[in-house]
Amino acid sequence: METSALAGQRPLERLHRAVIFLGPPGAGKGTQAKELARTYRVPHLSTGDMLRENIAKGTQLGAQAQPVMQRGELVPDSIILRMIADRIQCADCADGFVFDGFPRTVAQAQYLGELLKQHGYKQPVVVHFAIDTALLMRRITGRRMCKVGGEIYNIYERPTKVPGRCDNDGGELEQRPDDREEIVGPRLQAYAAQTAPLVAYYKRLGRLHDVDAAKSVAEVTRQVLDIVRAAK
Ligand code: AP5
Repeated sequence: METSALAGQRPLERLHRAVIFLGPPGAGKGTQAKELARTYRVPHLSTGDMLRENIAKGTQLGAQAQPVMQRGELVPDSIILRMIADRIQCADCADGFVFDGFPRTVAQAQYLGELLKQHGYKQPVVVHFAIDTALLMRRITGRRMCKVGGEIYNIYERPTKVPGRCDNDGGELEQRPDDREEIVGPRLQAYAAQTAPLVAYYKRLGRLHDVDAAKSVAEVTRQVLDIVRAAK
């Protein structure tokens, strides 16, 4: 089913760049990244999802990442950068992509800058999800994800029509292991110490745009689309 905000208005302009969603855990990056990726028909590149897929498949990379994620800490840059460098070489990335949860450190951002230049993409657009920390706990602990298609719900804010089942494909919903209350604190601390400096980093480069992430999903989608469509 077509769910994109611009359904019926095709053909769209091409993206041909990276859109980076930057913000704390639970700010709504994944929800909006899926929407924007559907709208522009480009891949949604969530490093968190990639790591969880590796854990589910039992790969060596997954085995390295799992204990780190369970502590709410960041996975080492070397692992993440290898994963991203491989992924953006895939043919489906030719028209651009939406990064969700990457980059998360200044070293990752610097590496990405070089990579995008090498591959001839336009300058990235960075969308910063500005939100009060007090709102995040409810969003994170209430989150449930579809085991089949990965659609994101929330038992408080965005419940499914049938409890425990995805509206799109009927898949079973599950809670992420790191969404337990005791792991949310360390995740927020990791964000403040290692990722929040990217706000100043991208502001200095003139690439940063704020959205008010406390607004409704539809309103944030509108803000994101306005930014992406106006970006030079
Ligand atoms: P990752 O999977 O990236 O998680 P995160 O960044 O902590 O972000 P979340 O997925 O928790 O939140 P979100 O902003 O996507 O919110 P969502 O849209 O789901 O990372 C997990 C772990 O992997 C990290 O801790 C780290 O260990 C590792 N990792 C990943 N990338 C890494 C990297 N680059 N470097 C190193 N380590 C890395 O929404 C949240 C909830 O709110 C949902 O229930 C949703 O329905 C609801 N919601 C969304 N928008 C709204 C709204 N506007 N109003 C009301 N409710 C809303």
